[in-house]
Amino acid sequence: MLKKLQRKWEVDSGRMILILLSFALGGSLCGWAAHKILLLISPNINLVWILFYLIIITLLWPFFVLLISIPLGQFSFFQNFLKRIFYQLLGGKNSGPPVLAIFASGAGSNAENLLQYFNVSEQGEPAKISLIVCNNSTAGVISIAEKFEVPVLHIKKKNFEEGDHYLPTLKHYGITHIILAGFLWKIPSQIVKEYKGKILNIHPALLPKYGGAGMYGKNVHNAVIAAGELQSGITIHEVDEVYDNGKTIFQQECKLEPGETADSLAKKIHQLEHKHFAEVVKDWLSKK
Ligand code: GRF
Repeated sequence: MLKKLQRKWEVDSGRMILILLSFALGGSLCGWAAHKILLLISPNINLVWILFYLIIITLLWPFFVLLISIPLGQFSFFQNFLKRIFYQLLGGKNSGPPVLAIFASGAGSNAENLLQYFNVSEQGEPAKISLIVCNNSTAGVISIAEKFEVPVLHIKKKNFEEGDHYLPTLKHYGITHIILAGFLWKIPSQIVKEYKGKILNIHPALLPKYGGAGMYGKNVHNAVIAAGELQSGITIHEVDEVYDNGKTIFQQECKLEPGETADSLAKKIHQLEHKHFAEVVKDWLSKK
């Protein structure tokens, strides 16, 4: 049971002990305070008294647990935990600003651009990126996440392909929307269903051409050049169960010059991505 919770919350054993301690101390302090308050109001303990006691501890415990979590260094965990409870109490309808997870497998220049826009500059307000999801422990995006102090969820293929394995973790972080920025694995249908219409991908070509399985990174640019295309570009689209297939939100072209290589084209594409991606995400979020 504890192991299951530990996995769900993605915390190590030391952190788990501190979290449980915060629950226990916060809960006891809350019980003690509610008892004192009620005795001041009415010293006679009867059924109504007990009923009020239960109501008061239900209302006060989040405050006490949050308070105790500060000296134990677990404030951010409980902040997210309580947000999630309120989110569920509201019937899954998130009344607050969008909370984003970026899925990335590589260098992470797009992730960096989005982090700068949403978490640092004021232009991206009121959305926030709260999680980076990565399948590659040597990917550049991990040090970028550290620089911006955003937690990284390292995922394993076997678990990811189970479909719903990581959903509790995404919910735990209060993730409302997912942005794929150079993420190489196919999103399992359980995640697509759970986040229907709320997953966006950036593709380095003008879909519907040069999309589908195996069409990523230089493979795309090589294919575009080999086909003698005079232009390429970027596509930002919603994600469904089929590779590179969802509704197109934005496209922007660039010209191919004679002697264009995969590297020179990748550079042009990255420039377009960095120029437009964050603004497009922001506009898309505002319409959701
Ligand atoms: C981008 O060109 C994106 O379109 C593609 O993968 C590349 C990722 O680049 N899906 P980076 O890791 O964001 O620098």
